[in-house]
Amino acid sequence: MSGNYYPALKQISKVSNSAFGLRKIGNSIAKSAAKTVHGQGCRILFLNPLKRYLVTVGAYGLSDLFLRKGPLDARKSLPDILDGRIVYIADIADIAVTHGIQYPEEDRDQGISSILGVPITKNGEVVGEIRIYTREPQEFSESDRSFLLSVADICALLFEKMELYRLLEKGYKSDKERIEPQVPQLPTSALRPTNFAHPSEGEFAKLLDFYRIEWLYEPRAFPLRWGKNGVAEMFTPDFYLSEMDLYVELTTLKQSLITEKNRKVRRLRELYPGINIKLLNKNDYTRLLAKYGYGFAGEAKTEGVEHVLYSHTQIQRRVRVLAKRISQDYAGEKLVLVGILKGVVCFMSDLMQNLSLPVIPDFMAISRYGSDAHVVQITKDLDSTITGQHVLMVEDIVDTGMTLNYVLKYISARNPASLRVCTFLDKRVRRLVDVPLDYVGFEITDEFIVGYGLDRGGEYRNLPFIGVLHQELMKEGAK
Ligand code: IMP
Ligand code: MG
Repeated sequence: MSGNYYPALKQISKVSNSAFGLRKIGNSIAKSAAKTVHGQGCRILFLNPLKRYLVTVGAYGLSDLFLRKGPLDARKSLPDILDGRIVYIADIADIAVTHGIQYPEEDRDQGISSILGVPITKNGEVVGEIRIYTREPQEFSESDRSFLLSVADICALLFEKMELYRLLEKGYKSDKERIEPQVPQLPTSALRPTNFAHPSEGEFAKLLDFYRIEWLYEPRAFPLRWGKNGVAEMFTPDFYLSEMDLYVELTTLKQSLITEKNRKVRRLRELYPGINIKLLNKNDYTRLLAKYGYGFAGEAKTEGVEHVLYSHTQIQRRVRVLAKRISQDYAGEKLVLVGILKGVVCFMSDLMQNLSLPVIPDFMAISRYGSDAHVVQITKDLDSTITGQHVLMVEDIVDTGMTLNYVLKYISARNPASLRVCTFLDKRVRRLVDVPLDYVGFEITDEFIVGYGLDRGGEYRNLPFIGVLHQELMKEGAK
């Protein structure tokens, strides 16, 4: 029995090329795909920006409760698809295979027997999946599979269009007047991966994006009450923040709504004791982010920062790892830490507090390129004698490597017992002089970054995180 592939593909390409929103296009593709291969249900999923969770962009024949059964972790749910393979499960009642299924119970409740999963790939990389569900155990022919791969190719184009749209939208939002679009504007403005029910949700999402916190929108519906015909009341919290394993429901300041939502949250906690959920208004969420180390530093201080590259928490975690390694390598020794002012102050401070060694911190200052001096000069020398001492150069960032190269030569000339280098950031792609680095916090790409001691024209040093400066500001150049 072969499907009617050609009319289906015609229909799918037509709707994909329409001005409808992503969700409507997705639903339509899911319907055509399911019917053509004689499945009863289908969902089209795209990987989220951190490529960990699958987000539904279209569905057919599946209940809302099923679609929102929880965050769909791409590595736990039919993980082989992530390797670019087609996955076929003949019968999910078959216990032997259910370890590749994240929510076997919900699948059975939905009355599902067979599942066929096909990867959506873009330049050899998996960006999403198409899943077909059947009520009775069912085989799929080679032609069915090849048809679904073609549908997946069309979905890949949609994915690309969505990404492009996201970039564009970002450009417009950040600086409406000044930034000229780099790419021609798309005919549709509905290609958002997520349709927020309320503007405050979009705002919250933007705040989370700024801090690079992974979020999923309404991934799970919690049944709260059951009647004769099944679930009688459900509660679907707005967000799930995976890093904190936390569900968040946003609320306005309207008292009547708060009371109702409080009741639901209480009930949810009773029924699902393992679930973390918080009801937040705008003041709350700013505070919440601060508590998790994403301290909101205030408008004036962060103006010009496009996004956070490493949060306060990530920085502290990494510093502890470096400090542990250094403490092990120098066990039983005394160490002189040499930093170059001023960028290194934050890192030096955090690092030395985490070292379990006796240390002597010392600082140098040098004149930079672009200042009055024509050659690099030492404007503040070390206070301690380092001859015969173990010296660790501590740097905030190594860019071209010129500064470090100069300073290392200077220090070597004083004959220390040993000399090594620890830098928090390594912008390796920009390297002009090859300098040996013994300990590196993070390797970063060629973006101008500020915060955690690093400045642009003397500003931003006191940000508790490392942020990327807006491209416009970067072009004006601080270096
Ligand atoms: P290098 O001599 O090119 O390796 O320059 C290293 C110095 O340049 C660092 O110590 C910083 O002071 C500065 N620098 C390099 N890249 C950045 C950046 O992205 N933000 C802020 N300062 C930077
Ligand atoms: Mg420096």
